[in-house]
Amino acid sequence: MNKPAANEVTVKSGQGLHEFFAAAEARVDRWRALHRITKSLAAPGRADADKQRSAAVAAFDELAPIETLNGYPGPHIMATVAERLHGSDFVSLARIVQRVSSALLANSYRDDSSAWAPDDDGDMSLADAVLPPTLGHGQSRRPYFEVLIVAAGEPSTWPALREMFRRLRRDDDAFVYEPVVVGSFEDAVLAVLFNYNLQAVVAIDGFGFASQLTLPSLRTIIAPHVPAEAAANAQDLGGSLARVLRMLRPELDMYLVSDGDIAALAGAEDAGRMRRVFYGVEEPLEIHLAILDGIKDRYETPFFDNLQKYAKRPIGTFHALPVARGKSIFKSNWIRDMGEFYGTNLFLAESSATTGGLDSLLEPTGNIKVAQDKAARAYGGDRAFFVTNGTSTSNKIIHQALLTPGDIVLIDRDCHKSHHYGIVLAGAQPLYIDAYPLTQYSMYGSLAIRPIKEALLRLKAEGKLDRAKMLVLTNCTFDGHIANVERTMLECLAIKPDLVFLWDEAWFGYARFSPFLRGRTAMGAAAKLRDMMKDPAYRARYEKNHAEFGKLKPDDPKLVDAALLPDPDKVRIRVYESDSVHKSMSALRQGSIIVVADQDFPAVEAPFKEAFFTHTSTSPNQQIIASLDLARRQMEFEGFELVQRMLQLAIEMRREINAHPLISRYFKAATPAEMIPQEYRTSGFVDYGTPGWSMADTARALREDEFFLDPTRITLLCGNAGMDGSQLKATLAADYDIQINKTSRNSVLVQININNTRSDLAHLIKALADMSRVLDKRLADGGESERASFAERVKSLVHDVPDLPNFSRFHDAFRDNAKSKTSEGHMRAAYYMAYDASACEYIRLNDPRIDERLKKGPELVSSKFVIPYPPGFPIMVPGQVITEETITFMRKLDVKEIHGFNASKGLELLKPEALAAHKGNSTAR
Ligand SMILES: Cc1ncc(COP(=O)(O)O)c(C=O)c1O
Repeated sequence: MNKPAANEVTVKSGQGLHEFFAAAEARVDRWRALHRITKSLAAPGRADADKQRSAAVAAFDELAPIETLNGYPGPHIMATVAERLHGSDFVSLARIVQRVSSALLANSYRDDSSAWAPDDDGDMSLADAVLPPTLGHGQSRRPYFEVLIVAAGEPSTWPALREMFRRLRRDDDAFVYEPVVVGSFEDAVLAVLFNYNLQAVVAIDGFGFASQLTLPSLRTIIAPHVPAEAAANAQDLGGSLARVLRMLRPELDMYLVSDGDIAALAGAEDAGRMRRVFYGVEEPLEIHLAILDGIKDRYETPFFDNLQKYAKRPIGTFHALPVARGKSIFKSNWIRDMGEFYGTNLFLAESSATTGGLDSLLEPTGNIKVAQDKAARAYGGDRAFFVTNGTSTSNKIIHQALLTPGDIVLIDRDCHKSHHYGIVLAGAQPLYIDAYPLTQYSMYGSLAIRPIKEALLRLKAEGKLDRAKMLVLTNCTFDGHIANVERTMLECLAIKPDLVFLWDEAWFGYARFSPFLRGRTAMGAAAKLRDMMKDPAYRARYEKNHAEFGKLKPDDPKLVDAALLPDPDKVRIRVYESDSVHKSMSALRQGSIIVVADQDFPAVEAPFKEAFFTHTSTSPNQQIIASLDLARRQMEFEGFELVQRMLQLAIEMRREINAHPLISRYFKAATPAEMIPQEYRTSGFVDYGTPGWSMADTARALREDEFFLDPTRITLLCGNAGMDGSQLKATLAADYDIQINKTSRNSVLVQININNTRSDLAHLIKALADMSRVLDKRLADGGESERASFAERVKSLVHDVPDLPNFSRFHDAFRDNAKSKTSEGHMRAAYYMAYDASACEYIRLNDPRIDERLKKGPELVSSKFVIPYPPGFPIMVPGQVITEETITFMRKLDVKEIHGFNASKGLELLKPEALAAHKGNSTAR
């Protein structure tokens, strides 16, 4: 791995370019630094002007190559900066650097023509040559983007090429773009990483491979993304580039311009990755129009566009929904403020009609259908279904669609309650598997591959594998544990080749738009597995693997430890993803989506539709549907930018907290090493910003490790501040106007999203610093007794943490075979038994009868789901035998919100006699 050169400029935090998670953020950081230096250089009477100028030159020299990958500020402005840097007018130097730096920071150059003027002294004649024309404002605004031209010729020919594309702009184009020219494969990869504005790539056959930019840290940045074979494949660099860019940013439109055998090229496998193939640069206008057409395809939001049109029409409504068109509101004597607050459009866009330009969510054939198809493309599936009642409903739909009574579903017990309820509805038997515990933080991690394989192998040994239909996993977990999705599916499919996977990605939808995280999403991994199963190299690997392990008996311990591979001839790739678009993207609350990559979907299409009908309102909210459509558009255009920025911000937030001398005395952002046991981090990855760290280390951890910690989920440990999670959450809300989502006994979860900014980071850091100062003072002023009681409180929060109870077992009354080594049970029977009040009894938590029965029986059997918040997973499910572990945990639990438990009544149990009666009457199931 190349380390950066010693003389490479590092700024503020001492970070080299390669240490930035998001390369483009490094660029903006450099402009800010150059601005600081040139501002001080411009200050009158500076004694160290030479030193400052050298620093400015060094910073500029580092920026200059990166700027060749971007449309703004462009060569004219860069030439002006260089000229002023080497002249003596530092005031005008500082002025132009400030203008560029501010325009980049605020992204204002995308709308504001004045940002493009090369001469801030007002020489607009030159400006005419470089401005993207009529960027416009408000309604007339034309979205701005950049197009990468990968050119074959000498750099001296590039200005003419740029000009050629610029001249094609027409006033009635719906979008406006600036061309950016590079001359090699590697520079194209760098441009795609550094330049958020790129939306299309035109590769002109004949370009070279090696980067023409020499900064060593740029090599470190591209290394993880350029496969070794790409360099060797000089014959087909266009195809290789399409492959690599598709991995990095699949949303980009790719065009190939070639003088070769165009018919053969257009029919080749790689052509599928290109939007169009052109013969020679003889049709520049065609290329220009194709580029705009590609953008239009992504820009169009069929449902939202029609809803806007619908809102403008003078429609009389004679159906339900009086708020539609707003007439019941705007004419009201008493609720007119409702109209004033929400505005007219909300009501004009309300309708219960499914015709007249709108469509039906339940039976989509028009614009909702097209919007869903576009969403499937964006999220990487074969099909997508909009859901307007949250991922809670998406999950229930999937369970009901794919499971039938008696099926076994392997499930992480720590997953969201919608899954447990979905299983009750479907009448399937859950086989609960526990995630690895993080007892020290009173939370669970995630579900490792090993216990899943053990469960599958036991089912196989007992001849029940055919009943194991589905595996349910959460990815990533609330606290940020990201699974190795590909490996999990491979190993499970090796045991059960048609196992269906339901990946609950309620929190993780955004990951699709990060080249680093995509491979760890359900759809990213499903696509990879599909390709893999067709690959002859995989087949050879499989055959070797099969020869070694294929003959072993299911109870052979070697199978659990071996990395098993599925038979490519038998395997069925059946993957479902549920995703709360509202949690990580710009959909309205409850906007959720089901994305499907199931090669056997036609066989389950009918039950899927039934399940969709069961759970979907016949009055779905139009605005939620429209926002799902819009969230897709946003992510297809700026998902890469938003997600890269949020990852970078999260990493900076972690560093600021952990490196702050005052804050770190009381608070800590738990590192990957603290959140993920070592056995699941075989790459040795410990944190994102340790000395010597680079993106390549992160890329390796992402490739190899069983679990990776999402940097945007910051578990902020607060036990050392003597506060439990709920206290810190309340203090942040009451005293600092900061809202936090989840808490544990000694932590809160700080979640960075696409909406967060550096100001938000500063807000939280200041709050933590203020709280730390107050604590410092309290401990200094309070004397020995204060310090002793504080130490006691810290000890109780940090060390005296209750063990987390594992799933015990279902009572024998709910088991087909009490002697079976697999733990599935008839949960639905237990659930419905509790509907009969005479079958239930209550015992208070501190009643000695509980201890008595734990020792001597009869067994205590829960009639309910009992879900304390935090930690938020069911510590009891209907029909589960309650153990001493669970009772101890409940007694130590100091949280107020426990769903399914009423402290004054006590634990709700199924009576022993009711259990005995049920056991003898299995038809009751
Ligand atoms: C893992 C997981 N899945 C599903 C859901 C339910 O999502 P929604 O709130 O969109 O119904 C949640 C909610 O917190 C969740 O954490």
